[in-house]
Amino acid sequence: METKVALVTGSNRGIGFEVVRRLAEQGYLVYLAARRPGAAEEAAGELSGRGLAVRPLVLDVTQDESVRRAREHVEAESGRLDALVNNAGVLLDEDRRLPGLELPIEAVRATYEVNTFGPLRVTQAFAPLLVRQGGNVVNVSSVMGQLASAGPGYLAYRSSKAALNMVTRVLAAELKPHGVRVNAVHPGWIRTRMGGPEAPGRPEEGAEPIVWLATLGPDGPTGGFFGPGNRPLDW
Ligand SMILES: NC(=O)c1ccc[n+]([C@@H]2O[C@H](COP(=O)([O-])OP(=O)(O)OC[C@H]3O[C@@H](n4cnc5c(N)ncnc54)[C@H](OP(=O)(O)O)[C@@H]3O)[C@@H](O)[C@H]2O)c1
Repeated sequence: METKVALVTGSNRGIGFEVVRRLAEQGYLVYLAARRPGAAEEAAGELSGRGLAVRPLVLDVTQDESVRRAREHVEAESGRLDALVNNAGVLLDEDRRLPGLELPIEAVRATYEVNTFGPLRVTQAFAPLLVRQGGNVVNVSSVMGQLASAGPGYLAYRSSKAALNMVTRVLAAELKPHGVRVNAVHPGWIRTRMGGPEAPGRPEEGAEPIVWLATLGPDGPTGGFFGPGNRPLDW
């Protein structure tokens, strides 16, 4: 059987790094994508040094040109993509500190660029490859994007993930006739630079539902929102 290929954005550290490791351990060739070339090479080297099929890829999800070059590289080198994990995300310091009423619009825009437009931009670019394989798209979202649970604060992060959830639904409907599944996932509250030292979950645990969705077969769900334990979540 031919080797399956996966790409994980923002995977030089945190949850994304563990997703790369787990997919590679399952036999995938995985592109470890990061916006900084040095970070991609260092992190990919750590895993390929352990015998895993992991390749560095420079990909800034906010830059059209960067995404285009990454797509051309994957197409020329591997000729296929079976799983795209839109993992890159930001939670800006101002967004943690300031109420929505005082948050500069520029901070909201910068958050949307990574968390919402990023996954859309990358999925648009790689869709033709995913369609060829009948692959999976996984959008790493958050329960902070659930409309029902919204409270004060974190306006940019919350609304960027709520919008990502809708992007997930629309793309799932559009790609369904082409055999591509698109799902959103909440990894849990995980100890990473974003999650902070108080978070109860380890990155390995956060990777679990993401890897499950990235490796779904043709009968798997699409247009869903899932959390730890692969449990369905309300939007
Ligand atoms: N940790 C949690 O508790 C938690 C909970 C719910 C959802 N999530 C979601 O899980 C995902 C991963 O988060 P994490 O906790 O692993 O965070 P993290 O450790 O802060 O990692 C974020 C990753 O995104 C990358 N990134 C940021 N901007 C980028 C850009 N423009 N292009 C490409 N990559 C970019 C970062 O790269 P640099 O190293 O270059 O900055 C880093 O690799 C995010 O989507 C987050 O919203 C996390």
